[in-house]
Amino acid sequence: MNQKYKKILITGGAGFIGYHLAKRLAQEGHEIVIADNFFRSVHDADLASLLEQKNVTLFEVDLTQGEAWDKIGIGYDFVYHLVGINGTKFFYDIPHEVLRIGVSTTMNVLDWFHKKNGKPNAKILYTSSNEAYAGALEAFGKLPLPTPENVPLIIADTYNPRWSYGGQKLIGELFFIHYSKAYNFRMSIVRPHNFYGPRAGYQHVIPEIVGRIKDKVEPFPMFGADETRSFCYIDDAVEAIQTVMESEKTDGGTYHIGTHKETVIKELIEKMFEIMRWTPSKFDIKNSPEGSVKRRLADVSKIKMDTGWEAKTELEDGLKKTIDWYLANPKK
Ligand SMILES: NC(=O)c1ccc[n+]([C@@H]2O[C@H](COP(=O)([O-])OP(=O)(O)OC[C@H]3O[C@@H](n4cnc5c(N)ncnc54)[C@H](O)[C@@H]3O)[C@@H](O)[C@H]2O)c1
Repeated sequence: MNQKYKKILITGGAGFIGYHLAKRLAQEGHEIVIADNFFRSVHDADLASLLEQKNVTLFEVDLTQGEAWDKIGIGYDFVYHLVGINGTKFFYDIPHEVLRIGVSTTMNVLDWFHKKNGKPNAKILYTSSNEAYAGALEAFGKLPLPTPENVPLIIADTYNPRWSYGGQKLIGELFFIHYSKAYNFRMSIVRPHNFYGPRAGYQHVIPEIVGRIKDKVEPFPMFGADETRSFCYIDDAVEAIQTVMESEKTDGGTYHIGTHKETVIKELIEKMFEIMRWTPSKFDIKNSPEGSVKRRLADVSKIKMDTGWEAKTELEDGLKKTIDWYLANPKK
């Protein structure tokens, strides 16, 4: 596969990660096809300007349906399978749909890829999640920190709707591993960890805090103030996903993508006060309840070892870009 410009399919490509990945790959001159049914994403000005480029095409299709796969064509060099029902609210409200859409789109993409795509040496990548292993903490009370890729994947409680999301990701990983072995094709799995940036929707921690600072809410609520997360800026994240796809060393492997820098939520919020030049006079500090996940930290040494990738963006720089975008694009 030596041609310079690749034909690339991004399923769920109008969403947060998909849009930024499509933009990056389109800038490099590749032929990009986005397939999305706008379950969660929107036709906004950013997507419209991406679609103005001659090398970017959108198919508005429901990828749970077999006929959608006849519309998007064949002969792709790379397929990024990003479709999924993300967002905690959906896990609780429609767990059956989270499962159906996650599992059926994954089976459809794999069947289409090995039976119809027809491009020799093509590769497909699956976006799993840290939720596929997070159940170990609830079930056994501990997980190694930082957490490496090879921990057991666990559903802590089949009756708790929250695990619909982790469950379909766990099944998705199994499908990718065993289909690729059975039908002898190239694939990699990535597990994103706390990606943030512009155009991530409005139900994420950072846009919610931007909204409260903008509205000068007093007393200012700080939820889970003592918890830590490792935030990975979207430009770094899509570079990592592309790097895993384009490397041969990563074939057949699973990779955590994130940063090794832990940030306490209270410090994240204080940084945002500084950037937005407003500090409340009263706070309502709500530490996390006993037993909740206080620390989440991925071990990202494997991706560095195999590809050399590591995150570059400082939290402050990523936050500035994210805040600017949300101030210019307030929730409608
Ligand atoms: N953002 C993160 O930090 C993160 C963390 C862990 C895992 N992931 C996984 O990465 C992938 C992309 O995440 P994201 O943050 O961009 O989510 P997103 O919700 O922004 O994007 C997913 C896209 O899939 C589309 N979609 C849903 N059902 C569809 C269907 N039946 N047919 C066609 N399109 C459909 C949605 O409209 C949306 O545009 C998801 O699979 C998600 O589970 C993301």
